[in-house]
Amino acid sequence: MDTKIQINSLRLKRDFDVLSAIGADEFGGVDRPTFSAAHLAVREWFRQRILQDGLEFSLDGAGNHSAILRSRQAQAKTLLLGSHLDSVPHGGRYDGALGVLAALEVLRTIQEANLSLPVHLEAIDFTDEEGTLYGLLGSAALAGLLEPEALLAPRGGRAALLEGLQRAGLSEEGFYQARREPDSLAGYLELHIEQGPCLEQAGVQIGVVTTIVRITSYRLTFLGRADHAGTTPMLDRLDAAQGACAFTLQARQMVLERFSSCVVNVGEMHFSPGAFNIVPGSASLALEFRAPDETTFASLEASLMELAQSAAENYGLKLEREFLGRHHPTPMHETAQQAIQRAAGSSGLSWLSLPSGAGHDAQSLAQICPAGMIFVPSVEGASHSGREYTHWEDCVNGANVLLQAALSLAAV
Ligand code: GLV
Ligand code: MN
Ligand code: MN
Repeated sequence: MDTKIQINSLRLKRDFDVLSAIGADEFGGVDRPTFSAAHLAVREWFRQRILQDGLEFSLDGAGNHSAILRSRQAQAKTLLLGSHLDSVPHGGRYDGALGVLAALEVLRTIQEANLSLPVHLEAIDFTDEEGTLYGLLGSAALAGLLEPEALLAPRGGRAALLEGLQRAGLSEEGFYQARREPDSLAGYLELHIEQGPCLEQAGVQIGVVTTIVRITSYRLTFLGRADHAGTTPMLDRLDAAQGACAFTLQARQMVLERFSSCVVNVGEMHFSPGAFNIVPGSASLALEFRAPDETTFASLEASLMELAQSAAENYGLKLEREFLGRHHPTPMHETAQQAIQRAAGSSGLSWLSLPSGAGHDAQSLAQICPAGMIFVPSVEGASHSGREYTHWEDCVNGANVLLQAALSLAAV
């Protein structure tokens, strides 16, 4: 097999620029939350591109969009390559998009080289990786990981999910039908920007992902009593905002002091009724925390919940907790890691192994087939922001490593 073929970086760049303009925002990034108009537009662009490239297009019940390059062996397994085209609200241009476009470019390159592989190749754009609605939704459906109650309390809210499904022409039943047989898959590879500072700081070109963190979401609601903000004495208030804010500050301090391998985030807070002159009667917050393994996670979760309870009690408040989903810590497959290491080494690129603090669709796929991830450096580690940037040369390196690693896994 010719391992020297390379992706067409100009063609990839042209696609990247067109795609970055769909949903472009005023911060230099893109705003393409799942099933928004911009997200549906970018998926339609992807579908058209696949057809123009003379590849087969496929859409499953979870809305996952795919380009397929078939093996001549009809019974062959499928090697999946992919990522996601949705973004967080006002996210960056590279997160997910680079992986999907590089996957498509790998298929085009192999098609042009007229290589006959013993696997079908599929470049896939997964639905709702970012968790605007649920998180890793399309890949969880494909991997058969969706539990019946999962869609009843998604972290973006049930109403938003149902409205989004309707706009996209999808149904809940479809998500359960998107499940693939593990036996039908040869593996999964994903190229992604690192979204952190390690590769840039080390001056290394390629990251080989070892594991992906555990992520858990809760909505916490502190319940007090709405009162007149001018006439109620300070010590007589049951001010829900105080509990929510005290918890937020103390959670940060606790993680810094006791859980150095973990992170915690309060990404949104809402006071109700919400006016200058009303003491907040309730304060709800979106809590997410991440840990590298289940043992550390269990201790972190228990400590955060105790902290929330004591913050509520200190201000005379009640606490309501709503669990909104989790993704398990997931090691990447040894075979896939080795294929990526070989691909980087044989391309003359420096590499190092590192864990991922961000969630990825590879986390779902790893439950049913050998999965691996390639990282390329993020300038200043910036991500989930319009500041997200990766030098084009690094994007091309990553796409070529994806190509070589795919060829290597296909040959296994
Ligand atoms: C996805 O980008 C996540 O880690 O939240
Ligand atoms: Mn991503
Ligand atoms: Mn992301």
